[in-house]
Amino acid sequence: MRNIKSSFVIALILATSLFYHTSFAQTYGQNGMVVSDNTVASQVGTNILKKGGNAIDASIATAFALAVTHPQAGNIGGGGFLVYMDANGMSTTIDFREKAPLLATPDMFLDSDGQLIKGSNHEGLKSVGVPGTVAGLYMAHQKYGKLPWKDLVQPSVDLAANGVEFSYTLAEHAKNFNKGTYPQFLKDYYHNSKGELTKHGELWIQKNLAETLKLIRDHGRDGFYKGAVAQEIATYMKENGGIITMEDLNKYEAVERQAITGTYKDYGIVSMPPPSSGGVAIIEMLNIMEQANLDSIAFNSTAYVHLVAEAMRRAFADRAEHLGDPDFNLEMPLDRLTSKAFAKMRYDNIDMNKASVSDTLKFGQLYDGKNTTHLSVVDKVGNAVSLTYTLEQSYGSGLGSPKLGFIFNNEMGDFNPQPGYTDSGWLIGTDPNIIQPEKRMLSSMSPTIVTKNGKPYLVIGSPGGRTIINTVFQTILNVIAYDMPIKKAIETMKIHHQWFPDELIFENDLMSPDTKKTLEAMGHVVKGRDNLGRLMGILIPTDGTAYIGASDSSSPDGGAVGY
Ligand code: GLY
Repeated sequence: MRNIKSSFVIALILATSLFYHTSFAQTYGQNGMVVSDNTVASQVGTNILKKGGNAIDASIATAFALAVTHPQAGNIGGGGFLVYMDANGMSTTIDFREKAPLLATPDMFLDSDGQLIKGSNHEGLKSVGVPGTVAGLYMAHQKYGKLPWKDLVQPSVDLAANGVEFSYTLAEHAKNFNKGTYPQFLKDYYHNSKGELTKHGELWIQKNLAETLKLIRDHGRDGFYKGAVAQEIATYMKENGGIITMEDLNKYEAVERQAITGTYKDYGIVSMPPPSSGGVAIIEMLNIMEQANLDSIAFNSTAYVHLVAEAMRRAFADRAEHLGDPDFNLEMPLDRLTSKAFAKMRYDNIDMNKASVSDTLKFGQLYDGKNTTHLSVVDKVGNAVSLTYTLEQSYGSGLGSPKLGFIFNNEMGDFNPQPGYTDSGWLIGTDPNIIQPEKRMLSSMSPTIVTKNGKPYLVIGSPGGRTIINTVFQTILNVIAYDMPIKKAIETMKIHHQWFPDELIFENDLMSPDTKKTLEAMGHVVKGRDNLGRLMGILIPTDGTAYIGASDSSSPDGGAVGY
């Protein structure tokens, strides 16, 4: 049911975006820029910059605002990653990925015959990971913020308490929830105080969420992981069959981790290390592309699509074989996977006339959702934040305590659910990502900063499950190898290959029929899709002219706000 539901919501988002998207223009800002999936939230962040806040402050305020205005992925009940680089080139990351609860077990989604109970890892309260968002945003503030914490949360308290204009997209979701077999929490989510469905253009007020946010505003991390909020989460879980306890919440900590880094020619790549697989895979793919002479391979030609797909095929196989939570996988060969020598080996066995065969002994991770949201921020002095966070699927588990007013993730679905069992369809049982108590599930979220002369140059990220890695990779390549303006780099044709299933996905209408035919003759299974990625990016020109912000036109409510 969840899969059908989330596909429907995604189809709806895509359909509505045709009628309701932001302009194709780039946005310029002399002093600062915030780009996110919701223009109101971007404005909240820009207001913080105007008040003298830095990029970290603005990213925190925007993330809290998205938890109010963009509840399909903006959240306090999920988790994510933040990549930070200051104007002088110092970089770091904050990992606030959800963790498996202490009572979780490797076989928790299996029946008595050891078979996966279909859908169970994405449904119900057992699919909820211990949320990390509030801890991560709080840690970012403690270490690198400037304005008082309260100033960063207050705008979201106001948005929730006073209401936001209900968008066309959310109104369509609301109608859908009330037609289908959704959890009661989701059916009630968009109701007003009279119990009626909020309509497009009306004010949508979230009183209980406002109260939860007030506790976070006043008590920081402890406002969520201790006291009344934590108690209500634990009680709700216990009474309704969940396994997250007060101990899980008290124990949760975000982690500051060294960024994973690489290069493409003169550019630096600064991205998220495991438990994200994004940074490693993006660097591996850029290294493979560097081996080729792209000056002689035209963008979007058959040779280009084939080479990009083969790079993806290889990187996704390596991802599945090696990557997981670094606290549980102590021997991950990150240096090797991101080295030029490794990329040469991978590049050397690409046949430019023929598709490779995906080897069934290696497998691509298939369990991440198609939602998630990304925001990019640059402040007046050039500090940059790239932040992606998620509930896993659109609206996560669709469950939550009505008293708290926010949605719980279903991130446990990002683990490999059936240990040791892998097939060529979608089941993967490789070791690095099996469920263990307190382990973080492998992610594809890829918040990234590209540098030029050692300073932030391009701030970029996207939602989209596994496609995140590939859409971020291609957007970077479009800017730094094909010299595209950022907006064009975001909008132009993307493809996706993830090793298994062995399919080359392209965006409908953006690949010529001739190219498709030639790729099929080379052995690729080529399939169209309406859209890949929803990229949110900022370019920082090296000549000191205005920052350039761009939000993907496939984001119905998204927008770049500069000043
Ligand atoms: N849930 C999407 C991801 O973490 O990749």
